[in-house]
Amino acid sequence: MRTYRAAVIGCSRMGGFIDHEVVGHPSIVLPYSHAAGYVACPRTELAACADLRPDVLAAFGEQYGIPPARRYTDYRALLQQEQPEIVSVATQPEQRAEIVLAAVEAGARAVYAEKAMAASTGEAAAMVEAVERRGVVFNLGTNRRWHPGFERMRRCIGEGEFGELRTLVAYVTGSLFNTASHTFDLLFYLNGDVPARWVQANLPRGESALDGDLLREDPVGEGLIEYENGVRAYALNTGRGTEFEAICDGGVLISGNNGDDWQIRRRVPLGIGRHTTLRAEPFPRFEHASTTLRLIEDLVQALDAGGPTRGGVRIARANTELIFAFVESHRRGGSRVNLPLGPCPLRLERAAAPRQPRLAAT
Ligand SMILES: NC(=O)c1ccc[n+]([C@@H]2O[C@H](COP(=O)([O-])OP(=O)(O)OC[C@H]3O[C@@H](n4cnc5c(N)ncnc54)[C@H](O)[C@@H]3O)[C@@H](O)[C@H]2O)c1
Repeated sequence: MRTYRAAVIGCSRMGGFIDHEVVGHPSIVLPYSHAAGYVACPRTELAACADLRPDVLAAFGEQYGIPPARRYTDYRALLQQEQPEIVSVATQPEQRAEIVLAAVEAGARAVYAEKAMAASTGEAAAMVEAVERRGVVFNLGTNRRWHPGFERMRRCIGEGEFGELRTLVAYVTGSLFNTASHTFDLLFYLNGDVPARWVQANLPRGESALDGDLLREDPVGEGLIEYENGVRAYALNTGRGTEFEAICDGGVLISGNNGDDWQIRRRVPLGIGRHTTLRAEPFPRFEHASTTLRLIEDLVQALDAGGPTRGGVRIARANTELIFAFVESHRRGGSRVNLPLGPCPLRLERAAAPRQPRLAAT
């Protein structure tokens, strides 16, 4: 079978070096960075890279065997000269839309965009329009969507083994663009990607992040989401860590310790009148696997077959809308904000310098 030529734009941590930070993590299977994923996938070839920082670009080229002639500080030159079929955009969200739109117009057939999708809802809408007009295959780097444990959890819920899903709980929501983008995607995924109907939210230190319509920091958020099927999600910040619960009529499915601990508590009769109790039982077996590799394989199967991906650009936009709906709800004193959001003037615009990637495992 043929291979697809891939290029990475934004060659820092998630683009190329994060594997050095997460190696040995009990629930993360490598490869984790985009570049390591393309190298591991037999159906993709990592052909070129671009980054504004020459030192990071050089280190990335050395690490992944990309010759200097295929290393670019100008991503537009990369798109023109290399014509990659798959383009990864692993910059921060402020640069995402411009680069994704350029990649799509340059003829890329697939885009692997990091989360958060964009810095504004207008940018997200432009990405949807361009991706759909050009028939481009798209996945957002919300890795848990490709995690076999969450896949198993969604299947248990979808098959109705535990009755109706009522409530989802995320014990950590974190900063909206960086962390909640993961959380919101997982909540959508577990609820069968049913659209959200409204949110009510609070940003505990929102005033220091907001400068008129500009977000000068990525604010921490917490709140309540109701979906069109009546399911409610509580997006909390409790100090308990990255843990999630799906509460159904017939039991609770739990992912604990950031994907290292999986539990089921099934509702059973207590034998005293109509009283019931939740009894622990083993979570169904699954094989851990690299979520990045599975995401890339999902792009490849969609390129091969012309079908949809597990993620897709509309789910990415729904995620972006939740981020901005949380901010809007906070700005309106915590009142209910209906979805879809409609025109929203807010934009993320930080002055933060990029982080230095860890160039070697220590
Ligand atoms: N999926 C995950 O689990 C996960 C983990 C870590 C980070 N991320 C996401 O990945 C993205 C990148 O994170 P990071 O920590 O690697 O970021 P970073 O800030 O360390 O790196 C971003 C890189 O993009 C480059 N860049 C910026 N503008 C550019 C342009 N116009 N052309 C070429 N390069 C450009 C910068 O020079 C920098 O090297 C973020 O959106 C982050 O949220 C996702």
